[in-house]
Amino acid sequence: MAILKIARMGNPVLKQIALPVADPTDSEIARLAADMKDTLLDIHSNGLAAPQVHVAKRVVVYRVPAERIPAGSTMEPVPWTTMINPVIEPLSPTKKDIWERCLSIPGMHGLVPRYQHIRITFLTLKGKTVRREARGFHASLLQHECDHLDGTLYPMRMTDLSKLAFDSEIGNTEFFVRRAPEEFD
Ligand code: NI
Repeated sequence: MAILKIARMGNPVLKQIALPVADPTDSEIARLAADMKDTLLDIHSNGLAAPQVHVAKRVVVYRVPAERIPAGSTMEPVPWTTMINPVIEPLSPTKKDIWERCLSIPGMHGLVPRYQHIRITFLTLKGKTVRREARGFHASLLQHECDHLDGTLYPMRMTDLSKLAFDSEIGNTEFFVRRAPEEFD
């Protein structure tokens, strides 16, 4: 078990295009995924992309526990999932604004347009191809994590930077009303 150090905005590793994993069954990738899960458990968070722990490879680990599902949402909890070389395909024509946070930008939040229905295709640690559809909160989370693999942080997706703010300030009233459910990374 290892708790990994999180890279923060400004670290060059967060700006890189992460490399595809050639062999998803490599024991080194399994160890990386296990350490990413330990790190998420330690910081009580839901999703982490490998560049956030200083590894420029296309690996994402996430889960959605029942208590993080927004009130009124029909989505089911998502068990721990390791995604290798994930690819997202939008299934909704337009994006909706969602409040986001990021472990690499501690203490801040912002309003980010995201597709609300997507399909994601990825490899498991056993090399099996999995396709999963996701909606709403789940879809936004996956777009956020996969953006990390292409050197994109959520402020780079924002269309109104006046909605980027510190959590300790009260400017974005709507964020605080909806804070608990929308907080995912
Ligand atoms: Ni993030």
